[in-house]
Amino acid sequence: MILEAIEKRYSVRHYKDQPVEEDKLTEVLEAARLAPSGHNFQPWKLVVVRDRATIRSMVHAIGEQQFVEQAPVLIVACMNGAGYHIGNRYDGAIIDIAIAIDHMTLQAVSMGLGTCWLGNYDGDEVGALAGSPPENPVVALLTLGYPDESHPHRPRPRKPLDELVCWEKFTG
Ligand SMILES: Cc1cc2nc3c(=O)[nH]c(=O)nc-3n(C[C@H](O)[C@H](O)[C@H](O)COP(=O)(O)O)c2cc1C
Repeated sequence: MILEAIEKRYSVRHYKDQPVEEDKLTEVLEAARLAPSGHNFQPWKLVVVRDRATIRSMVHAIGEQQFVEQAPVLIVACMNGAGYHIGNRYDGAIIDIAIAIDHMTLQAVSMGLGTCWLGNYDGDEVGALAGSPPENPVVALLTLGYPDESHPHRPRPRKPLDELVCWEKFTG
């Protein structure tokens, strides 16, 4: 069942002019709320932007990706709380937020909604427009809305499993 949602999900870059129902939006956010995190820190704050003018004003800071303004909802995921390290090296909060985002993408697709993860943005500009202070930097953006299926999408290829997995020891 989960694999079905995973297979169905794709990055939606065309949205219908149709609002997302309150209860569906709550379920998408609930999927993020339940995500695991290191030490159970839950180090994120999600700014849910539905105001058209605000979304429009962010497009420039999101690499001029025009499709963003079609989306009725833009979720701005900010870091919240002190950072911590994974493997003495990596920022755990970034990983935690990625999990929360992915939970939302899958919950969304299971309800007929679409999402697109956005990594091409100016964090300072988007943060200022979303009202997040510098200590709560923007880590990810996610559009959410009903896919406009009149724009067919071609699934992006994936590497075969044997290129991605090795057994017992790392092999190149
Ligand atoms: C961290 C991250 C950043 C991304 N940034 C963007 C982006 O700025 N704009 C965009 O259109 N898609 C963006 N994507 C979507 C990827 O291009 C997409 O997931 C990938 O090409 C695979 O396609 P699919 O999601 O349709 O399966 C991003 C995805 C991830 C995970």
